[in-house]
Amino acid sequence: MNTARHAHVTGWGRYAPAQVLTNADLERMVDTSDEWIVSRTGIRERRVAAANETTASMAAVAGLRAIRTAGLEPDDIDLILLATLTPDYWMPSTAALVKEAIGNTKAAAFDVMAACSGFVYAFSTAQAYIAAGTAKHVLVIGAELLTRFLDYTDRSTCILFGDGAGAVVVSGSDEPGGALGIEMTTEPQGAYMIWLPAGGAKAPPSAGTIARGEHYVRMEGKETYRFATKTMATTAVESIRKSGLTPDDIDLFIPHQANIRIIEAVAKGLDLPMEKMYVNLHKYGNTSAASVPIALAEAVNEGRVKIGDNVTIVAFGAGFTSGAVTMEWTADPARGAIGDAAVRPEDVHVRLPVDWDSVDPIPEALAEIMARPGTVNPPLDDVAPGEPEHDHQPQPVGRR
Ligand code: ACO
Repeated sequence: MNTARHAHVTGWGRYAPAQVLTNADLERMVDTSDEWIVSRTGIRERRVAAANETTASMAAVAGLRAIRTAGLEPDDIDLILLATLTPDYWMPSTAALVKEAIGNTKAAAFDVMAACSGFVYAFSTAQAYIAAGTAKHVLVIGAELLTRFLDYTDRSTCILFGDGAGAVVVSGSDEPGGALGIEMTTEPQGAYMIWLPAGGAKAPPSAGTIARGEHYVRMEGKETYRFATKTMATTAVESIRKSGLTPDDIDLFIPHQANIRIIEAVAKGLDLPMEKMYVNLHKYGNTSAASVPIALAEAVNEGRVKIGDNVTIVAFGAGFTSGAVTMEWTADPARGAIGDAAVRPEDVHVRLPVDWDSVDPIPEALAEIMARPGTVNPPLDDVAPGEPEHDHQPQPVGRR
């Protein structure tokens, strides 16, 4: 049992699939326009996972990068927490698949389900394990493959979401700093504002649920927007207050990347300039639980965070859930490049089940876009039952 009390981010990493889905692509699929999407959301493009990619495979790449950034080996990790609303399977946990894929033999591993707030909830879980002395190095991952759960005839949802993964290593230390104040809320009256009706115990999958499209994400956009603008600011403020700080003391906010108008409203609510809000949603759309860790890793790698800075991560999502962590940053930002360089996606493999009949996981509406020259779309024949290795691996760059 160690006596470490403080939870510091020591490693960070991210992974985004190479395939880009632009607003122009969506204009060809549903009745929408680049102008509408950009003005209402700020999103210009999002990423789509290739046929041979899964939530676990993306999570493993981001997780390994975070471990290398921290200067650790996979077996130094004693707990793996994976936040997702799009797990590879109902069971086992996606965290268990990631544990094997990254070559860890010691860690306990489980998934955390709190929709877009999932990474913040998982981070706070890591902090609690560290404060209790039951874990030393925790790998916290947010990973989503939302494009396989979207109805590409529903313009109100399909334009918003994308795929990707982000991760941090949270390490216990006697040195002060790291996570300072944590705030989380759950308001179940919002339970059916963003939901995925079928596939669970209430509505097991059947021909009927599929015919009714109940296996796709549904959302009441306006209600969700109202909740987000109200709650993101209050949750952030409470975590800052618990840290003994004021909003003016925060050097950078890393908000959930759902909608630029929501982020602008939060900045206004906190009376802070937009320069203090990190934004990358124009590139990735809303990647749910992956959104905050992708943004955090990018912000640090872009030099937006220095040692000694106060950083607040804040998210909201289905549930309705909301969470924020305010931390003092203590890691050398230059180390991010080490993790990125050390891990090539094509070297990371998630073991497949032996008796698995491969199906094409790419939604029909995206198939034509995924088949364009230069994109990442390995033939499905590659996913041979019982064979963990892929002959054809994703190309490192997409069509641009
Ligand atoms: N293209 C063109 N028109 C559209 C589109 C589209 N993609 N989508 C909706 N419209 C139309 C609507 O049909 C409506 O038309 P009407 O006036 O003729 O009825 C009009 O645009 C306005 O629609 P609203 O829903 O009022 O648009 P709004 O300004 O509220 O923007 C949006 C919609 C972007 C979804 C916004 O409400 C939003 O961002 N909400 C929050 C969503 C969110 O953050 N979700 C993530 C939750 S996190 C998680 O846990 C998954």
